[in-house]
Amino acid sequence: MSEITGPSFFIGKGDEKLISFGSGQPDLPPPPQAFDVLKTYSSFKYGLVQGEESLRAALATQYPKAKSEQFVVTNGASEAIDLALRAIRLRLPKGAIGKVVLPRPYYYSYPHNVRLAGMVPVYYDLKKGKIDYDNFAKVVQGCAAVIINSPSNPTGTVQEVETLRKIEALCEKLGVYVLSDEVYKDIIYVRGNYLLKGSRVVTINSFSKTYAMCGLRVGYLYSQRKELVADVIEMKTHTAMNTSIVGQMMALAALSAPASYIAHNLEVWRSRRDLMVEGMTELGLELWSPEGAFYVFPKFGSSAGGSGKVVRDLYHRYGIITYDGAWFGAPGRVRFSYALDAGKIQEGLRRLQEFLGKEHKRR
Ligand SMILES: Cc1ncc(COP(=O)(O)O)c(C=O)c1O
Repeated sequence: MSEITGPSFFIGKGDEKLISFGSGQPDLPPPPQAFDVLKTYSSFKYGLVQGEESLRAALATQYPKAKSEQFVVTNGASEAIDLALRAIRLRLPKGAIGKVVLPRPYYYSYPHNVRLAGMVPVYYDLKKGKIDYDNFAKVVQGCAAVIINSPSNPTGTVQEVETLRKIEALCEKLGVYVLSDEVYKDIIYVRGNYLLKGSRVVTINSFSKTYAMCGLRVGYLYSQRKELVADVIEMKTHTAMNTSIVGQMMALAALSAPASYIAHNLEVWRSRRDLMVEGMTELGLELWSPEGAFYVFPKFGSSAGGSGKVVRDLYHRYGIITYDGAWFGAPGRVRFSYALDAGKIQEGLRRLQEFLGKEHKRR
């Protein structure tokens, strides 16, 4: 593949010379408890399609009044989003279009997930990464589902608790499903997290970010709606079948890590965030400071050729991987993940300074 047409060009790529501000995969180690499992693990049979009971029971303790049968363990949050949307589509009234409300900028997979499920994405624009509730309330009318992602990829913003509560109430009243993508729920710098709840809420989460286990592909969904959980299990039976059982046991062990594991990582993310924000502000880039997750999303609006050319030039001439804002519905911006160590961040900022000095002067 020689052309940079989307994230797949970069996912999994990396060598010593490249500075990757690309993929959102934590470089921090998973908790040691997860590795301990491998010393004795020996079962490689098919597992329950819904997910191992022990893991689901452990997950249920993390949500008020939740039960293990309300969870499905999936191949990352990605499969959970895909199956949840397809399950919603299955039960739409005959002839219904199935509109799904997405924030813009959005996580790049959402519009694809919605279309692959046979539904139609509709958008509302975030204001500096925040939801304007009045805008949201207008667009949600007559829709089948909404996706909320707080803290957000790519904006790094955290939605106000009051806004989230109003969204919960409105969607409950309208009978609209809320897919709450909470994969960054433990990487939040500004306040404790607020987990959306309600009979129509489908909680999506993963071990990829909190526990730095992206490649293991373990995530889950949690829903109080029996028929949605049953539909998801039925579809998973005929698609991926069970999620890797050794992966599930490693995930279960990760849950037993002390709270200090998450607290320590959060401080690492915070210091990297500060380094990125200070460095980029000094370079004259326009951005807001992330409140959660690990992405900054500066504007490169004035460069000729747009953000796509910025991404191509940074990669081919300066050895820096970044993601085009256009992939997230925000052309003119470029997403930088700070899932790399401070030394590499500094080298990346140095190369970026060179790029800004040389390339921008030429224009
Ligand atoms: C907002 C969001 N949702 C879902 C995912 C997918 O995560 P997983 O690795 O669990 O499939 C990502 C990964 O970057 C993400 O940023």
